Amino acid sequence: MTGLIVAYAKGRIIGNKGRIPWDIPGEKTLFKRLTTGNIVIMGRKTYEDIGKPLPERLNIVVSENMKNDTGDPNLIVARSFEEALRISEEYNATKETDIYIAGGESIYRQAMDIVDVMYITEIDLSVEGDTYFPEFDEKEFRKIKEEYHDGDIPYKYITYLRNESYRQEDS
Ligand SMILES: NC(=O)c1ccc[n+]([C@@H]2O[C@H](COP(=O)([O-])OP(=O)(O)OC[C@H]3O[C@@H](n4cnc5c(N)ncnc54)[C@H](OP(=O)(O)O)[C@@H]3O)[C@@H](O)[C@H]2O)c1
Repeated sequence: MTGLIVAYAKGRIIGNKGRIPWDIPGEKTLFKRLTTGNIVIMGRKTYEDIGKPLPERLNIVVSENMKNDTGDPNLIVARSFEEALRISEEYNATKETDIYIAGGESIYRQAMDIVDVMYITEIDLSVEGDTYFPEFDEKEFRKIKEEYHDGDIPYKYITYLRNESYRQEDS
């Protein structure tokens, strides 16, 4: 299973100046629950924002420039998005983990056509931003879950599953 996980504010904003421009208690719980024990694929800028490999997960960072001798078995550098997928599949041959695409914008754009499921957190917040979650064709996915969370800044967890008839290999 290849999933995508994102949180966006109004206007599909995901980031500003290399950071995530909000900090909402509890909002990252889903990310941690889903990705722990699995594989996360992220772009180099997102990795730099997080600042360290996420624990108890295989972290694959896509970068042309980052040095690949990381000295950490849980941190692998891939030179392309396709290489990141290949590494994940090899790892999965023995471990049967799920793959999560964790952003940022450039990685989401490359992943939209291949993900099976999208875990989206829609945050009811207006913020300044410079990176966005791409538009996707709503016909290709169906909403299977929506969960509202109240609070100072309310948010919704929405799960979209790809319609089998819109698998890329069929088109
Ligand atoms: N709200 C959320 O859920 C969420 C999630 C993740 C990230 N974010 C935010 O998103 C923003 C970052 O997004 P972004 O689009 O600017 O950056 P990004 O996708 O995190 O990273 C971009 C970098 O990834 C590498 N890369 C991407 N595609 C590649 C390819 N095909 N081959 C080789 N390298 C490739 C390049 O690294 P090199 O330059 O090293 O070659 C590129 O500069 C930040 O503000 C972050 O906080 C938000």
